[in-house]
Amino acid sequence: MKDLIQRNRIYQMDCIKGMKKLRSEVDVIVTSPPYNIGVRYNLYDDRKTRNEYLSWMNEVANVSKKVLNENGSFFLNIGGTLSDPWIPLDVAQEFRKNGYILQNLIHWIKSIALPKECMGNYPHNKSDIAVGHYKPINSKRYHHDCQEFIFHFTKTGNVELDKLSIGVPYQDKSNIRRWKSANGDKRDRGNTWFIPYKTIQESRPHPSSFPIKLPEMCLKDHGLNKIDLVLDPFMGIGTTALACIQLNKDFIGFEIDESYITIANERISNFHNEKIIPIEKSSDLCRKHSISLNEYEGEFCVSKS
Ligand SMILES: C[S@@+](CC[C@H](N)C(=O)[O-])C[C@H]1O[C@@H](n2cnc3c(N)ncnc32)[C@H](O)[C@@H]1O
Repeated sequence: MKDLIQRNRIYQMDCIKGMKKLRSEVDVIVTSPPYNIGVRYNLYDDRKTRNEYLSWMNEVANVSKKVLNENGSFFLNIGGTLSDPWIPLDVAQEFRKNGYILQNLIHWIKSIALPKECMGNYPHNKSDIAVGHYKPINSKRYHHDCQEFIFHFTKTGNVELDKLSIGVPYQDKSNIRRWKSANGDKRDRGNTWFIPYKTIQESRPHPSSFPIKLPEMCLKDHGLNKIDLVLDPFMGIGTTALACIQLNKDFIGFEIDESYITIANERISNFHNEKIIPIEKSSDLCRKHSISLNEYEGEFCVSKS
């Protein structure tokens, strides 16, 4: 690694500058950049012109490609708005222009309704279910937004995954015998990943953090035995770092906002001390560090499951 950048630290630094200090040694990048939808971050202004934003994302793609290993994976989580659903797709095109191959188009599902009649005739399916967390919207035009993208970019399109590490059990166990390729009671979960937010009535320390399960699943999917170093260029309050610590992997993070890094480091040290921060205490932490609170979906608490 070039000078200054050490592993298992989050640097208060612009990610382009930060990535330029790295060599090509990153196995997995998992991140969620600002979406340019006017989210009220503590410091960052999330309202660039579309051209400015896309040329910035183009640069992120360009520089990240130089630090990612030939067989690495870049999991890019991004969503849009109901009135501007093109944002994630436009960003994906910037990655494409830089030679990234879209190896998997994964849908992060935040809420879903499953009618009993569609779930098959199994004794454990007792009624219709609706699971997950969503913001009801008052619109005659739009459905509420219950998915975001996780673009899985690679350099070759040929990166072998460890799909069964995040596999799901067969509903119909007779398939285990019937399908020769079946590997025990596990099958590929496919490209729809249901990852609900924890329900929190409290205000949150960061307006757009993702659940820890998201980076965790990306890392497992790439294959833990192939990972030496993980990068999150937009580290926020350290969710990717926590997933890495949980999975015993080295990480490097960049984040421009010192207050988010303070929260991230506090989450990390609590995690190391095996302490679980009760969800209702998250706003205490914010007050302690004079961080503005946001009413938004997100997860703060980390539990070691
Ligand atoms: C969508 S949030 C990431 C949240 C993170 N995944 C988490 O779970 O906490 C994007 C973050 O990028 C940070 N950011 C904005 N511009 C940046 C830049 N040039 N370099 C590094 N971080 C930046 C923002 O402060 C914000 O915290």
